[in-house]
Amino acid sequence: MPHEPVLLNEIISILELQPGAVVLDGTVGNGGHAEAILEKIVPSGVLIGLDQDASAIERSRERLKRFSQQVILKQCNFRYLDQALSEIKISEVDAVLLDIGVSQEQLDDAGRGFSFRLEGPLDMRMDSRTEVRASDLIETLPEEELAELFYKYGEERRSRRIARLIVRERAKKAIQTTIQLAELIASAVPAKVRYGRIHPATRVFQALRIAVNGELDALSEGIQNAMKVLKPGGRLAVITFHSLEDRIVKRAFLQAKADQKAQVFTKKPIGPTDSEVMCNPRSRSAKLRAICKL
Ligand SMILES: C[S@@+](CC[C@H](N)C(=O)[O-])C[C@H]1O[C@@H](n2cnc3c(N)ncnc32)[C@H](O)[C@@H]1O
Repeated sequence: MPHEPVLLNEIISILELQPGAVVLDGTVGNGGHAEAILEKIVPSGVLIGLDQDASAIERSRERLKRFSQQVILKQCNFRYLDQALSEIKISEVDAVLLDIGVSQEQLDDAGRGFSFRLEGPLDMRMDSRTEVRASDLIETLPEEELAELFYKYGEERRSRRIARLIVRERAKKAIQTTIQLAELIASAVPAKVRYGRIHPATRVFQALRIAVNGELDALSEGIQNAMKVLKPGGRLAVITFHSLEDRIVKRAFLQAKADQKAQVFTKKPIGPTDSEVMCNPRSRSAKLRAICKL
């Protein structure tokens, strides 16, 4: 199933885009939000689409080809969005969108190692030019650091027990694949958790992905840099999928408000409607927050 953009109507309404607007989509992914944004800003608007995953850039290029005169796509981490804009001589934009996390295409590609349901190498790099894979962390981190990583980035209650098991297992045999790790984690939890609603490896996989891609630091820096490139009156919208990310966005927005640099539109985050969750279960945990630069 192709990636469905989440909270699409909410994004379009909160960004209040006009024809001619210049918009930066920092996570262009499959181009779903970008396509709807372009429909609002044509004929003279420009969309700059960034993604750190080269295959996402290629997919968006294909999807957005009817707008080729209005689109600039670039493989880049959005934490460097200010540099990406200065390289193409754009100094300010009317709106920035960050739709954090993994796309369905990344999850469905077994070779990328994001899914604990598909057999593949323990990779999890969104940008394949970077060096550290999830298997490097699993193979080399000391037990205490593994436990801390699972606790801090996965909020995993059984972090110590899982770390101990990994260290014991890797002394016997290298842990190189997704299913190998997922089964090991499942063996560390009680049967009622093993067969519960959420797969027991969910939190550990989340933690590894966050660490491999430096996701939380990228988010903080991305928001700061977005504030630098927005015009006064420009809007920043961020969609997150778990509480660690949402906390970062909430705090950054409150700080911008306290510094009188922004007006916050979303005192509480906006979530999906019941009908969106029915059509697109992945939207279930999405939270949208938005600000306007003063
Ligand atoms: C949820 S998808 C975005 C989907 C997109 N909005 C759409 O409608 O198709 C998230 C995308 O963000 C990218 N991504 C995540 N963190 C990133 C970062 N720090 N810099 C650039 N791209 C990032 C991922 O590679 C992935 O393609």
